Amino acid sequence: MQYDFDTVLDRKNTDSIKWDKYAGTDIIPLWVADMDFPMPPPVHHALMERMQHPALGYTIAGDSVVEATLEHLKQSYGWTVDPEWLVWLPGVVSGLSNACRAWGEAGDHMITSSPIYYHFLGIAEPAGRELVDVPLREKDNHWSFDIPALEKAAANPRAKLLMLCSPHNPVGRLFDAEELQAVMAIARQYDLVVVSDEIHDGIVLDEERAFIPTAVACPEDTDRLVTLMSPSKMYNLAGNNCSYAIISDPTLRAQFNYHAKGAIPPATPLSYVALEASYRHCDEWRDQLLEYLRGNRDLLQTSVDKLDGLRMPRLEATYLAWIDISNLRLNDAPTWFEQHARLGFSPGEPFGDANYIRINLACSRTTLREALNRFEQAVQARLQELA
Ligand SMILES: Cc1ncc(COP(=O)(O)O)c(C=O)c1O
Repeated sequence: MQYDFDTVLDRKNTDSIKWDKYAGTDIIPLWVADMDFPMPPPVHHALMERMQHPALGYTIAGDSVVEATLEHLKQSYGWTVDPEWLVWLPGVVSGLSNACRAWGEAGDHMITSSPIYYHFLGIAEPAGRELVDVPLREKDNHWSFDIPALEKAAANPRAKLLMLCSPHNPVGRLFDAEELQAVMAIARQYDLVVVSDEIHDGIVLDEERAFIPTAVACPEDTDRLVTLMSPSKMYNLAGNNCSYAIISDPTLRAQFNYHAKGAIPPATPLSYVALEASYRHCDEWRDQLLEYLRGNRDLLQTSVDKLDGLRMPRLEATYLAWIDISNLRLNDAPTWFEQHARLGFSPGEPFGDANYIRINLACSRTTLREALNRFEQAVQARLQELA
């Protein structure tokens, strides 16, 4: 079946955060990480069917949901997961926050590497922990871990937890096994727990390559690893709140569960239905979506490459592009783009670098083309002003 990603979806009047921010204006929102596409039709169908029954109520992840999840992990990544290792969560961010409370004590160090999804930078403090940022390195438009600096931070006796994001939001990296192994070797040497946020699993734009979960790349280190996953990004179910942690080590799992108890609600009845339908019935939809996103990525890259001084690292994974706009010398880039290009981007500052903006390209090509026209015109005018 051929799925339609071209029709422009009107999301107004759906209480969408992305669209309501600019309600009543002509600004095109390309910020928060959800897609301007319909959910996969098999998921829509499964939800409508479930709604034939008029009751919801507290719901567990039934056998069929668990089985679909395990099959997905096995088939997609060759990862054999035991049902006992799964901990169901309403969101990946709650899993990250819980990890900050579950390991270490007040004042202990939680390490991460900016730029990074902004919640990573904000969750240690409310847990009474200290965030230690070991920035990623960027050379020739390629982002990588700063292994010597990570090792130095890990060697501090107060270091307890390392928070990874793979594939990476916002730099769009698809880390390979060697890179993950180098990080996990440090965790092993200094006895750190690692929480790996893999919510963007599957959204691979580099056709030749594949996503590898940290647990699969580093099987000897799974006793210190918490993996967080969800179908919400790949299958366009953001906000539907169904995620899970995979924790193979029983002690680690008990510690995680102890801190989650009473603090983190379970996933919701409809979200389990959506997860199961995504994993069982949406392979074709996913493959077509990835092709579409690759086309959008190429359009954006061509546009950025035309503009003097703007830089965009190759977007290997995710549908979020990270663009260096420092040469535009703007004090408040997001507001400037709203005013001069009628475009709503994510500011780089909450991710750890105000010299960048993040652009969400999961929208119809018509919308993206219009956005890129506006983008190019505004940037060219600014470059002329500066010349
Ligand atoms: C890396 C990353 N982690 C977590 C989330 C949000 O996860 P959830 O909605 O499941 O809490 C996002 C959303 O953009 C993300 O990009």
